[in-house]
Amino acid sequence: MFPVFTPTHRLLLAALTLVPTRLLCSSSAVPNIPNIAVYFGTKSRYEEVNPHLLQDVLSVNASALRPPPGESCYPVHLTAVIRHGSRFPTVKNIRRIHKLSELIRKDASKSSEGSVGWLRELRSSWEPWYTEEMDGQLVMKGRDDLRFLARRLATLFPSLLSEENMRKGKIRFASSSKHRCVNSMEAFQDGLHQHWSHQDSPPVYRHEVDDELMRFFDRCHGFVEGVENNRTALIEVEKFKHGEEMEALRRRTAEKLGLHFHRLTPDLVEAAFFLCTYELSIKSLHSPWCFLFDESDAKVLEYKSDLKNFWKRSYGHVINSLSSCPLFHHIFRTLDKAGRPRRSTEAAPEPASILIGHAETLLPLVSLLGLYKDQTPPTASNYHSQHGRSFRTSRIVPYAANLLFVLYDCQRGPRLQLLVNEKPEHFPGLHTQNAPLYRDVRATYRHLLDGCDFDKECEGRAQGRGPNTEL
Ligand SMILES: *[C@@H]1O[C@H](CO)[C@@H](O)[C@H](O)[C@H]1NC(C)=O
Ligand SMILES: *[C@@H]1O[C@H](CO)[C@@H](O)[C@H](O)[C@H]1NC(C)=O
Repeated sequence: MFPVFTPTHRLLLAALTLVPTRLLCSSSAVPNIPNIAVYFGTKSRYEEVNPHLLQDVLSVNASALRPPPGESCYPVHLTAVIRHGSRFPTVKNIRRIHKLSELIRKDASKSSEGSVGWLRELRSSWEPWYTEEMDGQLVMKGRDDLRFLARRLATLFPSLLSEENMRKGKIRFASSSKHRCVNSMEAFQDGLHQHWSHQDSPPVYRHEVDDELMRFFDRCHGFVEGVENNRTALIEVEKFKHGEEMEALRRRTAEKLGLHFHRLTPDLVEAAFFLCTYELSIKSLHSPWCFLFDESDAKVLEYKSDLKNFWKRSYGHVINSLSSCPLFHHIFRTLDKAGRPRRSTEAAPEPASILIGHAETLLPLVSLLGLYKDQTPPTASNYHSQHGRSFRTSRIVPYAANLLFVLYDCQRGPRLQLLVNEKPEHFPGLHTQNAPLYRDVRATYRHLLDGCDFDKECEGRAQGRGPNTEL
């Protein structure tokens, strides 16, 4: 007798071959997921934002798609701007990891016979297995992130991400030139291929590299000179790094490790925290490093990362968001075309556009669109009033984060819905509607549609580089 494979069985088998580490460690005594995993900032797993995926990674919540119930609507276009999946640390952090582990081996006080298990494990058996060639590359789990995202999107939008549209070359695929993005793009196409149950032969990968679109930040001189290479532009981050909350955290951490306070720099504390995040996102491990930090420690480290992203990639300086004008215009030009009335003889519009980039691609665009903008900007001195902030990178840009622009054809004209990480979001000023008329969305962004000139903003005026006074 041959066993009968139901779809659930097949899924289970797929899961077994794809994520062996998760199953291996689920039998260990410690719980799988550190309770601080929701504070990992841009190093968060996608599952922390959508925990139901831990039960069923292919589960799709179709009720998230919400054109007005009284109007007959069908989706005509999807633009997805997606961050690459889980990756290795970059060289800078790999070096810090090695420095930290050396420090602990050599200098941490050995007089802790009765010390707790995780600490003994850190000192005696934890080996830094990261090597410099790993530099930011996509890991196996990162491939899974994109593969499963593709399968869920193909389930949500069967008429757009269809096999026929793929075969006829109607779907646009554009990626940043970085390896982790190109590999993410391939994993996404693997996912589509698997969704159409072509398990055996690999797909013929198709994409264009477009750094003007997906790495606009590198080309914007106003941003590079005014923010990225400008120490004063990130002064709040520097201040917080040496401020009250971080100093206290360093003291506590040094004490736990039996290290002299001065040996454990803020960068090394952060490296220890990153190790906790990497071991979870790469190996699905609850690493001994995680026990160094309680929830309030993790919130301080999350804030540090949010501060950096706020001032370097988001509302902190207007040029950060304006640098994404090329991507903004690209998306709206695509939507304009897809929403235009057509004669029946005309070719159907592009059904889907899959654009893969970085957290540094998504955050400026999110900011240009006016999402997650709080009343008061986060600074080095207002940590305690920022607990309820909506600008939290852990929620906005985990690995495989995505902005989905869904255009519907409806009786009253085209409508646009925005989803962030597969959950409905509202456009600023259009809070009552899940899928406002496309013309109302265009009216909201009229000032950008008529302006937002990359060359002008990025090359010209110095005033675009200063702090954002609209805060
Ligand atoms: C599905 O999405 C809706 C709206 O976002 C939400 O209220 C509901 O809880 C979700 N259901 C599941 C099972 O996640
Ligand atoms: C650096 O940043 C500061 C603070 O935002 C700003 O006043 C200054 O003009 C910037 N320097 C350059 C070269 O853009």
